[in-house]
Order: sequence, then structure tokens, then C-alpha cells
Amino acid sequence: MKENKISKELEKKITVELKDLSKKISKHNELYHKYDKPIISDYEFDKLIERNNYLEKKYPHLILDYSPNKNIGSDTLEKFKKIKHKEPMLSLGNAFNDNDIYEFIKRTKKYLNYPNQNLIFSCEPKIDGLSINLTYEYGKLIRACTRGDGYIGEDVTDNIKTINDIPINFKSKNYPDFIEIRGEVFLEKNDFLILNNSLNEQKKFSNPRNAAAGSIRQLNNTITKSRPLKFIAHGIGGSSVKFSNIKQLYDKMETWGIITNNYNEIIEDIESLKEYYKKINSLRSKFPYDIDGIVYKINDIELQNRLSFVGKNPRWAIAYKFKSLKVTTKILKIDIQVGRTGSITPVARLEPVNIGGVNVSNATLHNFDEINQKDIREKDIVEIERAGDVIPHVLKVIEKNKKREKKFLVPKNCPVCGSKLLHDKDEAVLRCNNYYNCEAQLIEKIIHFVSKKALNIEGFAEKQIRFFWKLKFIKNASDIFLIKKYESKILNLDGWGEKSYKNLIDNINNSKKVDLQRFLFSLGIRYIGEINSLTLATHFLSIENFLRNAKNKKNLEDIDGLGPKVINSLVEYLNIKSNQDEIKKLLNFCEVNNYKKINTKSKFNNKFVIFTGKLLVMSREEAKNKAILLGAKISTSVNTKTDYLIYGEKPGSKLKKAKELKIKTISENEWIKMI
Ligand code: IVH
Repeated sequence: MKENKISKELEKKITVELKDLSKKISKHNELYHKYDKPIISDYEFDKLIERNNYLEKKYPHLILDYSPNKNIGSDTLEKFKKIKHKEPMLSLGNAFNDNDIYEFIKRTKKYLNYPNQNLIFSCEPKIDGLSINLTYEYGKLIRACTRGDGYIGEDVTDNIKTINDIPINFKSKNYPDFIEIRGEVFLEKNDFLILNNSLNEQKKFSNPRNAAAGSIRQLNNTITKSRPLKFIAHGIGGSSVKFSNIKQLYDKMETWGIITNNYNEIIEDIESLKEYYKKINSLRSKFPYDIDGIVYKINDIELQNRLSFVGKNPRWAIAYKFKSLKVTTKILKIDIQVGRTGSITPVARLEPVNIGGVNVSNATLHNFDEINQKDIREKDIVEIERAGDVIPHVLKVIEKNKKREKKFLVPKNCPVCGSKLLHDKDEAVLRCNNYYNCEAQLIEKIIHFVSKKALNIEGFAEKQIRFFWKLKFIKNASDIFLIKKYESKILNLDGWGEKSYKNLIDNINNSKKVDLQRFLFSLGIRYIGEINSLTLATHFLSIENFLRNAKNKKNLEDIDGLGPKVINSLVEYLNIKSNQDEIKKLLNFCEVNNYKKINTKSKFNNKFVIFTGKLLVMSREEAKNKAILLGAKISTSVNTKTDYLIYGEKPGSKLKKAKELKIKTISENEWIKMI
């Protein structure tokens, strides 16, 4: 950029004014946010910002180190206080076609045991923004948190308070003493373009969602205030009063001054659900903000409570995503990726393209059969698709390269460790079975260990892990907790300073207290994903109990929900000494919280329970989940350990066996009364 040639004197004058502006802005900011006592109007405040921005734009070489606009994007969220959500902020399951919606309705009816009743839905656009939880006590906004990992978010109250759409005080008096309003913070498409226009190249955002997120994650809330963020509510977390349905809730919200979506509709029949999807999809480009689908939610809140959650998704709602976006680009190279559990996947390195605002330079080719069938080769022009959050994938060849490159050959050996590759017995996947020594897998395991759903060590990116591995600072996940040994070496590395090093150490320390299911997931054992980790946690309750018992197959075989593949993989893992040693090392640093049960006073707490026969009031799935919430361990076969057998119609041999073994048997009606 060309610098304005100005006299030394003028330079001095401008610097004095910038210093003065910076002081004033930070003072009024503090009065407004910290003490809630502004002494100038918003208009006057905005004028200060405007003048500051004008001078900074005109004389960029005079921008102060402590300019109110400094640190855009670099003041990252480690600085925000972590807050545990009272009610987890989970995410929606996805549907991609009408059939997925039929299936959703079918399984919902089955779960509720509602073969003939009609379900009523609240249908809503799915806004592509940032999920926020707003806590109101006695009608006053006391805290605003980001979603974070769904369980722990970050306190962004000061920034959220700058958003005009979000009332600091409810507008009417008919509010509950306590309520958590949830909704989406977003930037409209036009405002995003205007904002990006004003930012210099490195600071531009790739889409409105990132721009909204970046604006909320500012340490300096004058920046947040200068961005025209909007808010639309789409639900609640905890509340001191009950609502009967979503429609009633939204109507109430409006009276408090909380904005809900004008496009929301209450719909009863399947045909109209489809129509709603078509209508909103056709209006998509006319929406002032990005939407990536619609959401169908069971309107009745009592039914929502019965349906509850599975894994991280509510059973009472689903997102019907709009069709994916496709673009064409060139394959520069085909590489082979070795996954955490040894799976070998071909990936296409692409000439970078922008798909729906996201820059894409890699796409998966799934497996080698697919490359062959579609005859995909390096240098071909291909069509790639990105749908929702899934990894982009190559659909087909659009134009073969004239001078065709050689066919891509299926590798015989692992490209990293050289081991012979084998096909899994019952899977198409090619695998490197050198689980405990293949460098690629060891690194992937550490990357998995620090990832968001595992220990969630923020700021420890894949790139850094690979680098630390190369420098031999870390060889196992547990070495992360000993990283201080290399303090001076790290501080000497390019890109590292006191501040970033301290952040890393703080983040590592913050991750040491971890819930059992997360800890089990973080170990990266094959087939032990989020759901199986939770099943294991509800069964074993503590890490000590898990380590003592889970290595014996017979202690796993009866756990409802664990199949033989999962069991074999877990038993194998736990019976390898180096794995046991690594867990022991991790436990020297980590404090693993026992699985917290909702109700430990229940008769079913810690009891082995079996369901058999056809239940009439609730579905089997709902009954099992109720029992788990009461602390029960659900098993599949009747034996001397069984405490209760709950039977429906036509119970068959299990009831007979339970009676023989003098196990307490309970009819469905009795069970309903007991809970
Ligand atoms: S309801 C249990 N309704 O989409 C989650 N979510 O994965 C219930 N979103 O994180 C969410 N528009 O931030 C709901 N009308 C809408 C929404 C919506 C956007 C976001 C939300 C959530 C994500 C779902």
C-alpha cells in the first residue's frame, strides 16, 4: 500500500489523536460493559470508532500497537472463560432426502409407540451461523456462551451485549425467573460482503458464518459492536417454567423482545412437510442470510422430553439439508492417507476451489475400487461435491487429461511404514495392521487424542503435532503432558513466542480433568467412537472399574449395544502391555471423572436389567434409555447376575429362565408405575 507522505508535524498530531481515541474508546467500553454505566450515547461512541477507523485507514503506518482494532483474529478464544452448559447444547442429525424424513417419522412413532397418532412439527429454516446460549435471570441477560463442544462453551457476554437484536432486559414482565434462550448469531450476506471489502487481504473471512464467529471471538468488543450481527432464537436450554409446545414458547419469546423466525410454520402432514422444504429451498437465495437446510421439530415439549437424545442428537428433531454444492477442478496428485486405525484411503490433492464459501484443496476418493471404476487419474478435471460438514469427495471425471497419466495402482505396502497391506475380512477397506508401530497411525492417534471430541486441547493443531513428532518431543499422547521439558527448544522455534507457549501449556492443563466417556473415546481404540464410549462409561462408571474388568471378554459380552467386533477390538487393545502402560501414564496426569448418573436413589441404580417381550406403552428403546438414566446396566442374557427382568407381551424363554433363577420379574405396567 502507498503511504501518505505527510510532514513530521502532522504525523505527531495524528498519533496524539489516535492515542486519545484509543484511551477514550477503552474507557467508554469499560463503563458500558464492565460497570453497565455508559456516560455517552451509542451514537457518540460510534463516532469515536468511526474517526479512529478513518485515521487508521488513511495513515496505516501510524496504527498504534494498542489500537482498538488490533488483534483481529489473533486474539483467540483461549482468553474466554470456559463455562459448563447447564443443559448440553447438542447438534441435529441430518436427513438428505425424503426417504430419510419418512424414516425419521417412522422411528419417532415407533419410539413413542404411536402407530396411529399424527405428529405435529415446528418447521424452521436452518440458519448457518453460530449457536449461542443466553442466560436470563429475572428478565436480565446475565451471560452468553458459545456452544463450544456442546458441553463446555465460552463466556462471550461482553461481545453478545453489543448485538442490537439481543435484549439486555426482557421487554415485558411475564418472564420466568430463569431461562436459557438458544439461537443463532449470524451476519447477513450483504453485511458480510461489506465487511470483507473493508478488511485487508489476510483478514478477510471466507464466508458469513466464519465472519460471525470471528466477530464474536474478539477480545475487543468495539470490533464486535462495529459488525452488524443479528440473532434469531430457535429453542431453550434450562427454564424455571414449562412450556407445552414450541409455538407457545416462540409466541412468549416475542413478547420478551426475542426475535424468532418469520418463516417458522406448524405442520401436521407429511405432504406439507415436503412442500415446506421445497418452498424454503426455492427461496434460499432470496434469504438475506445463509441457510443450509430446514429443521423439523416435534412441536409438543412433553413428547420431546420422552424422545430425549441419542448420542449427541435429539430424537425429536432432524435437519433436512439442502442439496450439496458441486464444482469442478483439477486433480494435481493422488496421495494415500493412513488413518488412525490403519485404514488406507486415497485422497485427491486439488487445485484449490471455493465451494460455498469454503476453500477446498483435498477430496477423498473413498477407496481404490472407486478410482478404478470411475477411471480417475492425476491431472483429470473432476467434479467434487461438498455436502454439509462431510469431507468433500470426488464424484466423477468431467474431462480426461489428453496425455493420460498412468492408472493409479493399489498399493501393496503401507506408504509410511512399509508393512504389507491387507483387506479386512468383512470390509472393503485396505488396512495397515502395524497398529502399534506405524508412524502415520501413531501420529493420527495423538491428533485424535487432542481433538475437539476427545481431550479438546485447543490450539494444538495437527500441524504442530506433526512438527513436535518430527522433533521427537512427543511419541505418545502422554508425552503431551511432559512437553514442558522442551520449553526452551519450543520457544526458539519459528512461530512460537512466550504468549503462544503459555497458551499451549494452559490449554494442556485445562484438559486434564476429563469425563470418563471422553477419556475412553480419546484413546482412539478401533470401533470405540462416541456412542460406544458412552455405553462403556454408563456400564463401568469409573476408569478403575473399566480397567479392572473390560479386559475380560466375558464382562463385555452382556452389555447391550456392544457387538462382537467392538468387544474383540477392546479386549485386544486392553491386553497389550504397551497400551496398559500408556493408560497408566495418562492417569498420572489426567483426573478422569466418574460417569455421572442422573438418579442414584433409584431402585434400578447399579442393577442389571433385561427387557423382554413386546412393550405396549413405550418402545423398547425408550424403556432402555429410561432405565439407563436411572443407573441400570442393560444386559441381554438372563443369568445369575441379572437383578430385574421387565417383560411385555409374549416374553418367551427369558421370563421362564428368570423365574427359574428366582430373579425379580416386573410386568410393563408395574415398571411404568415404578418410574
Ligand atoms: S434446533 C439439539 N433450530 O444448527 C439442537 N438449530 O446441528 C437443537 N441451527 O447447533 C437445535 N437453525 O446452531 C435448531 N432453526 C434451528 C436452527 C438450528 C440453525 C443450528 C444450531 C445447531 C445446529 C444443529
